[in-house]
Amino acid sequence: MALKNILVTGGSGFIGTNFIKYIYGLHPQWHIFNLDALTYAGNPMNHRELEEDPRYTFIHGDITDAALLKKLFDIHEFDGVFHFAAESHVDRSITGPEVFLHTNIMGTFKLLEASLTYFQNNGVSDFKFLHVSTDEVYGSLGFDDPAFTEETPYDPSSPYSASKASSDHLVKAYFKTYGLPTLVTNCSNNYGPFQFPEKLIPLVILNIMDKKSLPVYGKGENIRDWLYVEDHCEALVKVFEQGSFGETYNIGGGEEKNNLEVVHTICDLVDEKTGAKGSSRDLITFVKDRPGHDIRYAINSDKTLERIGFKAKYSFEQALSASIDWYLAHMDWVRSVQTGEYRKWMEKQYTS
Ligand code: NAD
Ligand code: DAU
Repeated sequence: MALKNILVTGGSGFIGTNFIKYIYGLHPQWHIFNLDALTYAGNPMNHRELEEDPRYTFIHGDITDAALLKKLFDIHEFDGVFHFAAESHVDRSITGPEVFLHTNIMGTFKLLEASLTYFQNNGVSDFKFLHVSTDEVYGSLGFDDPAFTEETPYDPSSPYSASKASSDHLVKAYFKTYGLPTLVTNCSNNYGPFQFPEKLIPLVILNIMDKKSLPVYGKGENIRDWLYVEDHCEALVKVFEQGSFGETYNIGGGEEKNNLEVVHTICDLVDEKTGAKGSSRDLITFVKDRPGHDIRYAINSDKTLERIGFKAKYSFEQALSASIDWYLAHMDWVRSVQTGEYRKWMEKQYTS
């Protein structure tokens, strides 16, 4: 049977890395093309075991490069696209929004254009474009509000979430206007292996190991709905295979926790696992709040369960414990992304 060519953008980042590892085993008939610009958040070493594999091709390139995209679609005739590539960190979007608009909006636009040209010119009937987005587009909930549904109006707070909202609208417009077969997923906070240590969970693990302070914004009352990355990957494949074009699917973990609870749990688990004397909770420091900090995210995933049959399997405690084990066993990985050490190897390997 001929292989299907699947384009994954941003496959060297956190979720993309986990996703490629997940689908590689699941779909032996898929050839995975990973297009990644290798920003600070992308690490090609994550896929070293696939380097020589005929079912994996790494392409060092930018989703805003229309000529490159055209060439890739012409040569590889992709059967599907999973679009992860983005600038993803809210705090960075507050201090430097421009790259977020460039990558998240213009990059998605260029990818849609390349997909549409290919789709229209080649009369391909089974092409699909899945856009990976976030619950942050819906804005902020009060503590007692019902969870976000797919009908919740968009109300983004940060330049990051505004850029993702914009990209979602573009993806939906390409379905409505041109009939491009698109799917949009909006998921909650992911955690698990290979997450860049600027995000809350890996940052706290790393700082405990280094005996540094654990910065908690404001009073630590903000709530996130935590989703284990493997659950997310499973949901994405299901939506890709069973979703209806032009529709949105929410993906949540059903695990709402406030930030202080999350940090306390990490402290206790790391202390237990490392046999630490004293409590790492003593390292917690309350710091100035994030501007425009959304109070609460919560996802109603009923539609995804009813139409697609997806429900998150992992409990927060179980998967957080497994994630901490991964970080403790891979401190070399954490150090190398933190210091940028891996980039020296990467620059030799991928000068384009
Ligand atoms: P990440 O920051 O870890 O990785 C992003 C990847 O995209 C990196 O490998 C980076 O090199 C690549 N990239 C950035 N700009 C690029 C460009 N112009 N061209 C090609 N590649 C580029 O992000 P993540 O946490 O893995 O998130 C992946 C996607 O999932 C994003 O679209 C994000 O908005 C969405 N999302 C993330 C979460 C989460 O909790 N992490 C939750 C909801 C949605
Ligand atoms: O909800 C999905 C979103 O989750 C994704 O779209 C984003 O790409 C992803 O980065 C994540 O956004 P958050 O801003 O929620 O994640 P972050 O890990 O940055 O922060 C989680 C919470 O912890 C948030 O309320 C801010 C707080 N925080 C974060 C950091 C980095 C702290 O209190 N201290 C910190 O040092």
